[in-house]
Amino acid sequence: MIFNYLQANLLVKDDDFDKIYPKKIARLSKIHWTSVEVAKKAAKFLVTNADSKVMDIGSGVGKFCLVGSATTPGQFFGVEQRQELVSIAQEIACKRGLDRVHFINANMMDVNLKGFSSFYLFNPFYEHIDQAECIDKTIPLSIAKFTEYEQYLFNQLNKMPTGTRIATYHVGNTQIPDSYQLQEEHFFGLLRFYIKSKKCYPLVEKLLNFSTRVLPEALFRMRGIKAHKNIYPNCPPPTHNQGL
Ligand SMILES: C[S@@+](CC[C@H](N)C(=O)[O-])C[C@H]1O[C@@H](n2cnc3c(N)ncnc32)[C@H](O)[C@@H]1O
Repeated sequence: MIFNYLQANLLVKDDDFDKIYPKKIARLSKIHWTSVEVAKKAAKFLVTNADSKVMDIGSGVGKFCLVGSATTPGQFFGVEQRQELVSIAQEIACKRGLDRVHFINANMMDVNLKGFSSFYLFNPFYEHIDQAECIDKTIPLSIAKFTEYEQYLFNQLNKMPTGTRIATYHVGNTQIPDSYQLQEEHFFGLLRFYIKSKKCYPLVEKLLNFSTRVLPEALFRMRGIKAHKNIYPNCPPPTHNQGL
């Protein structure tokens, strides 16, 4: 029924949509799963025609993909590292006869992103740096992992062809390569739409990345180590991910 409402473009409240999920999963919705209205808006931007292939990086229980496939003609794919969440999403898609939505249980680094026309990112790697409201305790806190994933995805997105679309939710501008141009912002700037418009020059990107990200971070850390040595001359300085 809820999917008929979506297909008919009727208002669907999140509390009503989330009833398709087991209770413990629905309870996580406000923090971890995209709201129906955000998903509808993002999907409308990402799907330009029935051939559009949209990839949700870190698809959770598939809320974005399920809403997107019910409200647009596009093909939706979700990659998710937690098997349990993928099984829930697959079962719902199968039961409701949603045949334009597919879920893969994998780390996004193991999936070939070529061939997708659009990407959706709802701050997928944040749990590596903040577990105040985590999904479960299976993912370790690690700045190194967070940085590795972000860098990897940044490079992959940079290699995509001109015209590739990205919708981000709760993701900073700096996580999207300069080869993409910001098109629209919604929901107080939390939801952003980009289109790749420039050809990417890997060497230039590397130099830019070094001067705007790597170098400032290294200087910042060096300043911290110097300050630490002044205060605690006999104590070794902390590493950047110590205690994580
Ligand atoms: C904030 S939730 C978003 C869920 C979904 N995109 C939505 O909008 O409803 C982020 C999800 O990304 C997944 N994730 C994080 N890192 C991942 C990785 N490296 N590969 C695959 N999934 C990942 C997490 O397990 C989590 O389910």
